[in-house]
Amino acid sequence: MAIDLIQSDCIQAMRQLDDNCIDLVLTDPPYNLASFMKNRDTNLNKLRENFFVNAGWDDMDFDDWIQSMDAFFEEAARVAKKGSAMIIFMAIIKVETIIRIAERHGFYYKTTGIWHKTNPMPRNMNLHFVNSTEAWIYFTYKTRTGTFNNNGNLYHDFIETSVTPNSERRFGKHPTQKPEALIQHFVELLTNENECVLDPFMGSGTTGVICKRMNRNFIGIELDENYYHTAVERINES
Ligand SMILES: C[S@@+](CC[C@H](N)C(=O)[O-])C[C@H]1O[C@@H](n2cnc3c(N)ncnc32)[C@H](O)[C@@H]1O
Repeated sequence: MAIDLIQSDCIQAMRQLDDNCIDLVLTDPPYNLASFMKNRDTNLNKLRENFFVNAGWDDMDFDDWIQSMDAFFEEAARVAKKGSAMIIFMAIIKVETIIRIAERHGFYYKTTGIWHKTNPMPRNMNLHFVNSTEAWIYFTYKTRTGTFNNNGNLYHDFIETSVTPNSERRFGKHPTQKPEALIQHFVELLTNENECVLDPFMGSGTTGVICKRMNRNFIGIELDENYYHTAVERINES
């Protein structure tokens, strides 16, 4: 099993990967929400010191973000094997935009699903609906079906977990770290042992931890030096 962790801009790093080498792209890119949230008159900054809006990696204006997603899908299409899959987490309001870009690059749209957090932070709970959901979008590449290890069980387009527990944050905090249970769900269903998973927006390395645990090869790319080191330490220790 090979684990390859790269500190770089993901487009630059993906350009170095071979054609047709990836079985699953499982990733959680910036949702382009920070500018939008900053322009709202909220008190979120005060509520949460580790808030993603302040992290600096989601500050692009909309057109630049579209261009960056387009470049990501262009490279993803080159490295994806025929019949491979992609799961991309996204804000619900951006789902259609992502599907349009993905289809331009040959990805076949399958499903938009929901991740529901059972214990979200109860921000402004007496003023409005507390945000407890994110979307995930499922694509296959150049085919209409791919690996789906359901073993005869029915899987809903809905998954529910708690937010990331502190036990998974021992090596450093990331403001949008995904819970391991959520990532494991997709790796188990959509890949087999010894296949190769790519996470080009790796953050604290959750996808890598799961791939190591489940005997999948893994390529993880992260731009930020601190998050990269968190991921390296976390994956090494897992
Ligand atoms: C939503 S977070 C991913 C969190 C991750 N799923 C986890 O469980 O920790 C997105 C990550 O993408 C990184 N990032 C943003 N732009 C990038 C780029 N161009 N290349 C590589 N990483 C990038 C950010 O630094 C951030 O850590």
